Formats: sequence, C-alpha cells, structure tokens
Amino acid sequence: MKVLSTVEAFRQWRAEAVDPLGFVPTMGALHAGHRSLMERARADCASAVASVFVNPTQFNDPEDCRSYPMTLQEDLAMARETGMDAVFTPSFETLYPDRYRYRVTENEHSSALEGAHRPGHFDGVLTVVMKLLQIVAPHRAYFGEKDWQQLDLVRGMADAFFLPLEVIACPTIREADGLAMSSRNRRLSAAGRDLAPEFHRALAESSTALEARERLAAAGFSVQYVEDAGSRRLAAVELEGVRLIDNIPLAATSAAAASHPLKGAVS
Ligand code: PAF
Repeated sequence: MKVLSTVEAFRQWRAEAVDPLGFVPTMGALHAGHRSLMERARADCASAVASVFVNPTQFNDPEDCRSYPMTLQEDLAMARETGMDAVFTPSFETLYPDRYRYRVTENEHSSALEGAHRPGHFDGVLTVVMKLLQIVAPHRAYFGEKDWQQLDLVRGMADAFFLPLEVIACPTIREADGLAMSSRNRRLSAAGRDLAPEFHRALAESSTALEARERLAAAGFSVQYVEDAGSRRLAAVELEGVRLIDNIPLAATSAAAASHPLKGAVS
C-alpha cells in the first residue's frame, strides 16, 4: 500500500492505477464505520484509495479541531487490512495553497440543521471534498449515511458541477447497543458511554421529533436539534461536551409503526 502526501506523487500513482477507482475520504481516527466504507470500495472497484486529512476549515470550534483524535499509524494499519492500494495524507499547505481564499458554498440547505449549529461547516466540507475529488479523480466516492446532510450536499455538489463520478451512500454502522460509530465516541467517559445509546433509542422510539427532544433532555443530553425532514429523523446532541449526531429513516420510528396498517395485527 502506497502512502502519498503530495499532489504530484498521488497523480503519478493515479496515472498507473487500474480503473475503476473507488475513494473513501476520511479525517482519520478510523473505526468500524470507515472500515465498512473501505471494504465496500475494495469490493466494488479495481483500485481503492482512502484519504486521511483532519480538515480545519470544517471545524467552527478550533478546540474541537485541536482535540480531534489523531491515530495515523492505526489508520494506515486498517487501510492496509482492508486492502487499500493507496492512502493520501496531504498537509494543510498541500491542500490549501490558496489558504482557503476559494471555497465551495451551497446557500440553501447548508444553513439548516448541522449548518445552523456549525456556521461555515459545510463550506469547509464541500471545499475539501471538491479538492480531494479533483486530485484523486475517482469513479466512485463512498460516504456514510450517518452524516446524512453531508451526503446530501456532496451529492448535490457532484450534480451541480457535473463531476464524473458516482456518490455511493453506505449504511450507518452501529455498536451492539445502537450507538452510531463515531470518532468522537472515544471522548466519552464510561458513564457517558453507558448513557449514549439512549440517543438512538429516543429517536427510534418516539412518535414525534418533539417527544424525542424532550426524552433526550430529560435523560441529560443537551439537545441541539431533533427534526423530521424528508424521509429522515435527524438529530444532534451534546453529552459531556461531546457532540453526537445521528439520523434514522422515519419509517423506522414508532410513529411509522403506529400508523402501519398491520398495527396490532401481529404481536
Ligand atoms: O465525513 C468526514 O469524515 C469529513 O467530513 C470528510 C468527508 C472526510 C471531509 O473532511
């Protein structure tokens, strides 16, 4: 597996790589969710690449960026295990020679939900994803459904700019107790970790977003939003100062179960 950190070195490698190429962009601190994306890219494509870059422009809170876990050696080991052919590990200077003078902005959906609580977040995400896609030039790029709004905005950007690639959505990977895998989970104390699965349970077991919000607040979460939008229930909370996000299909909530025509017909 090649570990490449400059655009020139990556493009040289890319020129020889067998098509189609699958790409998994990450910020490192890889967990089973990332593993599933890399496995999918590996299974689907003749060549597979991941990137590891903690992108400062998508952190609205500098402290959140500073405390983001950095585990490059473990990340490379996981990439190797899943059969990645190369990992791109650029520096800030490599990816931002313009020092972020140029950026990609979406000005409707990106200011809602995550965007309302993290001003500038999606400018940073879309800009870095666009830069990475220009360098990596993949046929398919893999994104997790846990970051639903990110997935939706990246899809929209790919369409808007006629990017010649497919954006592939991959299901959220959860711990056995339902907590969505996240690099941030490791910052919870043992007590926080015990409480955290209540986040997913409250989303799934409440009939309305308001009910879920109240249940979470009563359990000790600081709720940023719970909203039903389109086909999903999306939410963000803070627990012990750690920001957690999750979303589920509305069809999987108890509201859907309550309105199902077979309700009560099966026990
Ligand atoms: O989802 C992430 O890990 C990041 O937002 C991404 C897509 C790698 C961009 O930095």
